[in-house]
Amino acid sequence: MTSEWWRSAVIYQIYPRSFGDASGDGVGDLPGITRRLASLSELGVDVVWLSPFMTSPQKDAGYDVADYCDVDPLFGTLDDFDTMLARAHELGLRVIVDLVPNHSSDQHVWFQEALAADPGSRARSRYMFRDGKGDDGSEPPNNWQSIFGGPAWKRVTESDGSPGQWYLHLFDESQPDFDWASEDVQEEFRRILRFWLDRGVDGFRVDVAHGLVKHDELPDYTPPEDADSMGGIEPVPYWGQEGVHEVYRDWRKLLESYDGERVLCAEAWMPTVDEIALWVRPDEMHQAFNFEYVMSEWDPAVLRRVITESLRAFHGVGAPATWVLSNHDVIRHATRLSLASDFPQGHGIGPNSPGRPDQAAGLRRARAATAVMLALPGSAYLYQGEELGLPEVIDLPDEARQDPTWFRLEGERYGRDGCRVPIPWESDQPAYGFSETGESWLPQPDDWAAFARDQQIGRDGSTLEFYRRLLRLRRELGVATSDLEWIEGLPEHTLAFRAGDVAVIANFGQDPVALPEDAEVLIASGALDDGRIPYDTTAWVRGV
Ligand code: GLC
Repeated sequence: MTSEWWRSAVIYQIYPRSFGDASGDGVGDLPGITRRLASLSELGVDVVWLSPFMTSPQKDAGYDVADYCDVDPLFGTLDDFDTMLARAHELGLRVIVDLVPNHSSDQHVWFQEALAADPGSRARSRYMFRDGKGDDGSEPPNNWQSIFGGPAWKRVTESDGSPGQWYLHLFDESQPDFDWASEDVQEEFRRILRFWLDRGVDGFRVDVAHGLVKHDELPDYTPPEDADSMGGIEPVPYWGQEGVHEVYRDWRKLLESYDGERVLCAEAWMPTVDEIALWVRPDEMHQAFNFEYVMSEWDPAVLRRVITESLRAFHGVGAPATWVLSNHDVIRHATRLSLASDFPQGHGIGPNSPGRPDQAAGLRRARAATAVMLALPGSAYLYQGEELGLPEVIDLPDEARQDPTWFRLEGERYGRDGCRVPIPWESDQPAYGFSETGESWLPQPDDWAAFARDQQIGRDGSTLEFYRRLLRLRRELGVATSDLEWIEGLPEHTLAFRAGDVAVIANFGQDPVALPEDAEVLIASGALDDGRIPYDTTAWVRGV
C-alpha cells in the first residue's frame, strides 16, 4: 500500500490478554504477540490494532489506565513494546494502539491527587467532581447510569473524613471520567500522543471517542429500555456533544506534524452512520467504526440499506467506509448471526440465556458475512480468532467471569468475557499453544482443538484458509478500492453487488441461486450445490 493506506486497509484487532502468553502466567503479553506476528502477515492483514496494554489495575481489562506512557508488567515492558513494533514493521504490518481518553483508572496519580485535594482545586478540575444534590449533598448530581449498570456517580470522603463531592464514572466506578474542559487534561493527552508517535506507532484507536465532553448542565437522562450496550437515542447529554470534535481537530494537526501517515480511528458508538460520520470530517479522524453494520441482522434488505447509507454518509465527508463484524465488546459473529436479531450485544450470553445458538448455522453465516464484508469498498476490521471461526464461549463458569458488568449487575448480564477467551494455536499443546504452562485467564472450551490454527493451516475449506484466500483476492483484485454497484434482477433473498470486475452474490434464502454457464467462481464461503449458490453462502464470481 502506498498513500492513504487507511482507506482500504484490513486491520486485525489483537486483544493482548488472549493472543499469546510468553510468560506462562495465563495472561497474554507483548512477547507472546511478537512471536506470533508472522502468522498475521501470512494471514494477509495490513495492520494490527492492540487493545490496551498500558499500566492498569485491570478492572476493565486494561481500559482503566493508570499510566498512559508505560506498559503494565502483566504485558511486559516498554522494551518489549519496541521489539514488537520493530518486528511488525519488519513484517510490513502497521501498528495502531488503543488510547483511552474518556476516563482513567482510579489508580492514576491524578485521580489519587484529586481525592486528596479540596473541592474546587486544580487537581479536582481534571475529573468530573460535583457537589451532590439536596441540603446535605447526599444525592448524586444527576440520575445518569453507568454503561456497565448501576449509578454513574460515586461519593467520596473528603480528607477531613466528612462525606464529600461526587465524581462521574460512565463506566465502572474505578474509571473516573476526565473533565475535558481542563487544560491540563488536553495538554496531557497531547503528550501521550507524542509519546507513542515518537516510538513509531502508526495510529490510535480512540476509545469512547464520542464521550469526552458532557453537556454543560449535566441534565438528567434515562436511556430507553431497549438501548444497546452504549445506551441511548439522541440526544444523549454525554455522547456526541459538539465540543468533542475540537479535541480531534487538535489531535489531527498534531498527527500531521509527524512523518508517515499516522491515523486516528474513532470508537464513536452513535446510533446512525450519519452521526458516526461526523467524526471523520476532513479535519478530524481518519476512520470510525461502523457500529450500525455490526448491529445489522443477517438480512439482505437490512444489509443493502446499511451498506448504501454507510457509503453515502462516509463518502459524503470524504472518508472511507469501515466495516466490522466482531470485536472484544460484542458476541462473536460466528454465534451472533444465528441468534435473534434483537439480541443484546454487549450484554453477552450465557448458560441461562434463552435458546442455544446453532454453531454450524452460525459459522456458515459468519463465513458468508465475512465474504460480503471483505468485498465492500473501504477498510475492514477483523477480531482475533474470527479467522479460525471461533464461536462465543457461552458456558464460562460464573467464578471465571471478569467483565465488570457481570459484577455490577450481580450476574444479571453475562457481559463480554465470552468473546475474550484465549485463542487456540496448536491443538495438542497446553492451553492449545496459548501458554506453555497451560494457564489461561479464562478457561478455554474442551472442544477447541478443532479450531486451532495448526488444524486449519493448509487444509482446504478451513475457515483460516478461506480468510487467507479472501484477503489475497481482495488485494489482488482491488475490490476494496473499487466503487460498489448493486446488481439488480436476482431473487429477493440475495444481496448482490459488483466490486470492480468481481460480482459478489450472497444467498439468504432456501432456494439455490444459479450462475451463468461461463461464470468463474473465485471463492465461495461454502460448498456450491451443483454449481449453484446454496443458502447462507456468498460467492465471488467473474463473468456475471
Ligand atoms: C470501550 C471498550 C470497552 C470498554 C469501554 C470503557 O467501549 O471497547 O471494552 O469497556 O470502552 O473503556
